[in-house]
Amino acid sequence: MTWGEDPTSSVVVSWASPGQAANPRVLMPGSSVTGRVVHAVQRIYTDGLNGQTVFTYHAHLDGLEPGSTIHYEVTADNDHHREQPFAASFQTAPRGRVPIRWTSYGDLATPVTSWVLSSPQSRYAVQAVEQFKPLFHLLNGDLCYANMNPGAQPAVWAAFGNNVQLSAAMRPWMPCPGNHEIEFGNGPLGLDSYLTRYSLPRNGTSFPGLWYRFRVGSALFISLAADDVIYQDSGAFVAGPAPLQPAPSTGNAPIEPGSSLYIRGYSGGEQTSWLEKTLSEAAQDDGIDWIIVQMHQDALSSSKNGNGSDKGIRETWLPLFDRYGVDLVLCGHDHDYERSWPVRGCNHNAGRDAATGAVVDTCQPKPVITTEPIDGGYDTSRGTIHLILGGGGTSAPLDAYGLNSATDMPQAKVITKPNRPVPSADARIFVKPGADALEDAIWSARRDTDTGYGIAVFDLDPTLAGGKTSITIRYYHALGADKQPVARYELFDSLVLLKNRRDRNIG
Ligand SMILES: [Fe+2]
Ligand SMILES: [Fe+2]
Repeated sequence: MTWGEDPTSSVVVSWASPGQAANPRVLMPGSSVTGRVVHAVQRIYTDGLNGQTVFTYHAHLDGLEPGSTIHYEVTADNDHHREQPFAASFQTAPRGRVPIRWTSYGDLATPVTSWVLSSPQSRYAVQAVEQFKPLFHLLNGDLCYANMNPGAQPAVWAAFGNNVQLSAAMRPWMPCPGNHEIEFGNGPLGLDSYLTRYSLPRNGTSFPGLWYRFRVGSALFISLAADDVIYQDSGAFVAGPAPLQPAPSTGNAPIEPGSSLYIRGYSGGEQTSWLEKTLSEAAQDDGIDWIIVQMHQDALSSSKNGNGSDKGIRETWLPLFDRYGVDLVLCGHDHDYERSWPVRGCNHNAGRDAATGAVVDTCQPKPVITTEPIDGGYDTSRGTIHLILGGGGTSAPLDAYGLNSATDMPQAKVITKPNRPVPSADARIFVKPGADALEDAIWSARRDTDTGYGIAVFDLDPTLAGGKTSITIRYYHALGADKQPVARYELFDSLVLLKNRRDRNIG
């Protein structure tokens, strides 16, 4: 389930099926609002690597009552369970300045351990969402790593759907695309599997479904597709020595070693224009106190063994976040937890080339404070806080971070140019070079060195005394899960964001 255009009154129920459904539909027993039956639209694609056709169905439930509980059933004329169809219930968003809770992580994978990068922790991560019962969940890209299992992409997606359904049938799970959604054989961007499975709010651009916004209470959520602006090459890749051989039925040619799907710049600036328009409209709206951005890749990450920070996001989007006062940026990509200080603006020429030591402009973000606030909360109207939440449930947790051995300060790798595949010592095998630059991570506030796994829980209080509003963030981590999957998530980090309500700002 995902939000429709207006979370107070609309959701989309989407599902995939191994065969074609006859008369697919959602029933709403007892609902007087929209009628009792909503027919689903079919969208299909044929996987370009193994030739399997995937059938998906999307029912738009509109005109729902705000803040209400809706029961629904999913069925079709050829549903084997027609007597007792799949049934669940969900809540629409309440209207007005209301308290809301949401949760977030990225990099989930599946619990089916035969798939590359999957882990049983992925099941516990879905259960963790249910433990906190948010109104909705933000899934920050790298959903299931189907592209790491190129002969079986549809089966990996099916394992993902079966796993998340435990929660995603009862509350919207709002995704953004990650680099592991970029698949060979599936469309010009490699994103046809993702785009076929999800029906997301309209963005009015030539790229429907890739980025979108929605509003809940006094918060505006903006979901971005960062592969459009990052320098790093992290989509589907054939290392070699053998080519990747699509099934004969696809008619597709072998994909040669050294091939990668590098899609930086695909929207020709359309996404960034949309972002600026969306942010400038939000700035005119006194009903919006908070702006939260979701994207997969990281502008501020000091992971040692992961990808690190990407200058593409820093130079393209961070200036907009500064100008329009984005409060929070929620990411994944590096499979760990890191929180930044509030940052605004950047220092130029503060980085070093990783190989030569020459000065590099990494656009090093500038923290506005580097100590915990003493008056109860971080004022994010002064700076944007970035959270890396890449600890969904992959088999590759990362909890090592960079350190400048000369100063003992946190150090970040920064990717400032494309790292396209190059031949290795064995010319038949290709590798992607790592980050090309280093900088002191003067913006890094907290890093979880115990485990890479966790979930962030956000509680927005819209109306505090004195015209204030707050978001309390609690990050729970799965201690011990790096060694063995664990169901228990315990508190690791908490902080409060506190600022004036927009409608109380005078002058
Ligand atoms: Fe990932
Ligand atoms: Fe990623």
